[in-house]
Amino acid sequence: MCGIVGYLGFQDPKKIIIDGLKKLEYRGYDSAGIAVVDKGQTKRIRAAGKLKNLEEKLINEHFSGHLGIGHTRWATHGAPVEKNAHPHQVGEISLVHNGIIENYLDIKKDLIARGAKITSDTDSELVAHLINEEIQVTKNLLLAVQKTLGKLIGAFSIVVIWEKSPDEIIAFKDGPPLIVGVGEKEFFIVSDVQAALQYTKNFVYLEDREVVHIQNNEIKYFSALGAPLKKQIVQVDWNTEQVEKMGFKHFMLKEIYEQPRAVAAAIRPHLNTETHQVEMQTLGFVKSNAEIFKSIDRIMFVACGTSYYAAMVGKYLIEQAGNLPVEIDVASEFRYRKPIVPKNTLLITISQSGETADTLAAIRLAKEKGALTLSITNVQKSSIDREAHGHLYMNSGVEVGVASTKAFTSTIALLNVLALQIAKDRGVLTADQEKNYVTQLLAVPSQLEVVLAYDKYFSEAAKKLQEFKGFLYLGRGVSYPIALEGALKLKELAYMHAEGYAAGEMKHGPLALIDSNMAIVVVAPTDELIEKTISNLQEAKARGGKIISIGTGENAALQSMSEYYLSIPASSWMAHPLLSVVPLQLMSYHLADSLGYDVDQPRNLAKSVTVE
Ligand code: AGP
Repeated sequence: MCGIVGYLGFQDPKKIIIDGLKKLEYRGYDSAGIAVVDKGQTKRIRAAGKLKNLEEKLINEHFSGHLGIGHTRWATHGAPVEKNAHPHQVGEISLVHNGIIENYLDIKKDLIARGAKITSDTDSELVAHLINEEIQVTKNLLLAVQKTLGKLIGAFSIVVIWEKSPDEIIAFKDGPPLIVGVGEKEFFIVSDVQAALQYTKNFVYLEDREVVHIQNNEIKYFSALGAPLKKQIVQVDWNTEQVEKMGFKHFMLKEIYEQPRAVAAAIRPHLNTETHQVEMQTLGFVKSNAEIFKSIDRIMFVACGTSYYAAMVGKYLIEQAGNLPVEIDVASEFRYRKPIVPKNTLLITISQSGETADTLAAIRLAKEKGALTLSITNVQKSSIDREAHGHLYMNSGVEVGVASTKAFTSTIALLNVLALQIAKDRGVLTADQEKNYVTQLLAVPSQLEVVLAYDKYFSEAAKKLQEFKGFLYLGRGVSYPIALEGALKLKELAYMHAEGYAAGEMKHGPLALIDSNMAIVVVAPTDELIEKTISNLQEAKARGGKIISIGTGENAALQSMSEYYLSIPASSWMAHPLLSVVPLQLMSYHLADSLGYDVDQPRNLAKSVTVE
């Protein structure tokens, strides 16, 4: 996720902004920049890489102004190079942005037709062009911003400054968080309170589609349509643990919102973001990745819980893309069923903690049987990681919530990469297919931002769940494991009984369960199986089942059958699980939170099951 710091006050904006961006480094980024209005001019300095690169450029830069904006960017589209770093400056306007502008291609076409010089690969720059065009007419920053907002579609938060108005700063929030720090004659606009907590404890949390306008020490709030708003100041007095939650109520919610960055961190080391090809880093085997992938006859996945459901997704991805047989098993069964492990088997364990006892036992047994082993984990040098021959890392950052979220999506993203690399090395993936899948995979972090921006709808759907006695989570194909994972989230967080099922199995028994007390949560992105899933739902609907569905785009058939229809962006069939699981995570989170349960530490559960 990108990080934003805006400042208007009497202190040195360079120090305030850089210190603030340092507090946001946890969000992950690969370029940074600052723009300060100084004597009617805008001084903008940007750098690729870490903040220290930007600080080196700033050593001899001194600003006399007191208005500035800063940004740490996590690139998902386009290379993480200086020209794409924020702030974007066009004419008299500079801005920073977090989120995505969905209609940016149309905007770009129109701007170019009007002779605009586009200098970056970002959608953010286009917004600066639009506001700069408007300000030439309105000569009023608030008006220019409000007129521009009406042209933008998507979920985005922006902070804007105008070099001709050194006592004014404006921000708009829709999707990614923006919080206003209200100090004594100074104001901060930040992605989370951590970036300004050392200067003030008074904060105003902007809601979606709200504008804050600060000028000459006066602060006003408006709706996107210009209606004045009253906002409450919240006193934030956080202990350390709360600060680590970065403004989120629970670690689990923070980790759900970290998924765009976590997925990007998982895949970027293995993808060429220029050519959109898969170039998997060495896994650490004695032989090269390609030699291994060409020589194996099968893959066996072994894992537990949510990690096992990720392994199930891996089976669909690798068999269908890589044309290689894949077996899966839960570790607690594998270790005792005297498994047959044929030669030329690659056994892959998936374990966020790298310490799960059953999974550790499984990898030891597999090695005794002569299998080559690969560990996918989030903790380097964990017990399982140390025992494996090869290593892949989720790179998710610490996952504190017992209910696994970002580690799950990071693993599925890695399994997308693994499936594509295996297919490529085994000669069953064309160059066009590779480019298409990699392009769609690289788009997922931005698409996750969009899904997260609709959280309020998932929260409403969650309230609906309370009235039901039983829950069936359904999915077909690669969405079947996601249905299982969704059911597990409801069980482990809201302590409600839920069952994940292959949608095609309804006739073989579960249909007898259906009545108006039964909620059917169906994962149904538009793919080759969608019609079959919809016909399964008709059977359930005819028997009084209440349906909550997750689909792609405006699926009218699905919407017409559902009490709640939750839409996710369209993607490749391989990447859909990364998007469809998020509404299920959030629904279970909000339901458990509304029931007053301990979301981060659900009863009877531990984050790492290091005993049988
Ligand atoms: C997931 O929400 C649970 N916390 C649990 O099922 C977990 O996935 C399982 O215990 C495996 O843990 P691991 O990934 O650390 O091996």
